[in-house]
Amino acid sequence: MLTKKLQNALNEQINREFFAEYLYLSMSAYLESIEMEGFANYFNVQAQEEHFHAMKMFNFVHDKGGRVILKSLKEPKANYSSVVDVIEESLKHEKYVTKSINELMDTAISENDHSVKSFLQWYIDEQVEEEATISKLLAKLKLIKGEGLGLLTLDSQLLERTYQPGK
Ligand code: FEO
Repeated sequence: MLTKKLQNALNEQINREFFAEYLYLSMSAYLESIEMEGFANYFNVQAQEEHFHAMKMFNFVHDKGGRVILKSLKEPKANYSSVVDVIEESLKHEKYVTKSINELMDTAISENDHSVKSFLQWYIDEQVEEEATISKLLAKLKLIKGEGLGLLTLDSQLLERTYQPGK
């Protein structure tokens, strides 16, 4: 069984993961609107990963005999000023998610629940990879100054990204 405190904290994180899915879909829609199909695909795949993160936690709460309570999702930001703006915002969002996962781990430690600690380790490791991927993408974009032929080349490369189940 989960303590009430831990169950509430996991439910809040499920909401954050679903919001991340929604936010990335919104970013994908904006990128489609400016004909950046590769970047739009990148965020579409990112949204599928966030859906998986939410559902993995959703199923875990049930496995632990807990109760999932879904909360409302905020309206995601719809408009951005450029591709660089989108990537900067997504990096900011991933840093926020990392902070919230770390706080969730702190709660699992203070509630002395070893199975939750073990479960959350996957998210801690995943966040390192997610922040690194987006940081590298941002660095490349800055190298090409976020425009021109460099931007078009990067956009076509990102068209190839596909969702890897279990990520
Ligand atoms: Fe589920 Fe990108 O954090």
